[in-house]
Amino acid sequence: MNLEDLRKERQKWMSWKNIAPLRKTVESLASGTWHVEIGDVVKVSGNYPQDIKESAKSLMPWRKGPFELFGTYIDSEWKSNIKYNLLRPHFNLKDKRVADIGCNNGYYLFRMQEDKPKLLVGFDPSPLYKTQFDFINYFIKSDIVYELLGVEHLEFYEEKFDTIFCLGVLYHRSDPVAMLKQLYKGLDKEGEVILDTFYIEGEGEICLCPKSSYSKIPNIYFVPTIGALKNWCLRAGFSSFEVLETSVTEANEQRKTEWIEGQSLEDFLDPEDETKTVEGYPAPARIYVKLIKDKK
Ligand SMILES: C[S@@+](CC[C@H](N)C(=O)[O-])C[C@H]1O[C@@H](n2cnc3c(N)ncnc32)[C@H](O)[C@@H]1O
Repeated sequence: MNLEDLRKERQKWMSWKNIAPLRKTVESLASGTWHVEIGDVVKVSGNYPQDIKESAKSLMPWRKGPFELFGTYIDSEWKSNIKYNLLRPHFNLKDKRVADIGCNNGYYLFRMQEDKPKLLVGFDPSPLYKTQFDFINYFIKSDIVYELLGVEHLEFYEEKFDTIFCLGVLYHRSDPVAMLKQLYKGLDKEGEVILDTFYIEGEGEICLCPKSSYSKIPNIYFVPTIGALKNWCLRAGFSSFEVLETSVTEANEQRKTEWIEGQSLEDFLDPEDETKTVEGYPAPARIYVKLIKDKK
């Protein structure tokens, strides 16, 4: 696969009629003086001559964050700091080549800079999220590389990675074992993957296969038990499967804010029984795992 041709092709997405005005917003950002603090909130403060709130609002919906720009708090739908902090004890990226697959607007990548990795690459085929990344990165001026590519391109990528994060993507793929193999091929020797996905409780090696939606999300194909997930990972070639954490998504982590249109978690659960989705399936629970390519 020729990735250079694909990159050129995808660059044209930036002139789609819903994206072109957003690119203008980013291209017309003014200069000013500011400083950056990266913690639970990715924050830029200082003096800035433009109405940053209006610019940020034009780039909605903001799914991942939070960010703060010159006093404007972008209260994204997800408090992504909760997932980042839960995973934080389980990785060390110093001098590593790191990829974040499905990186959205780059919130985790901005935070990962704290470890001083050798390389940080985000993969996400969304021109809107890439534009949000460019908007934030205009102020942060990081060396993060953002590729408008998907997990399906990882095996053809010019670099191999020491650590690959793949968070919240597996359940969107209709062939999860094929996706796990793509992650495997993206790793260098002894590389590791940190992955999260929805799972269901149960001893069996089985999956929930939602009919047309799960928690009102249409493109969710398989929700495995831990046993089934482990089997997928071993079949994809990984030699080690370690469960890091499990969690149930709560309303303090995902909720409707003024920075998204439409609905959020509270509308996706059965109003009579919050342990179920509106479709009657078990409410979303996540499992976080570490996979190792080949143990010494
Ligand atoms: C549910 S979000 C997860 C975002 C983030 N990784 C997290 O865990 O908070 C899924 C992300 O995957 C991206 N995505 C869609 N198709 C993809 C693909 N083929 N390869 C990689 N990412 C993809 C979407 O644009 C979106 O940003």
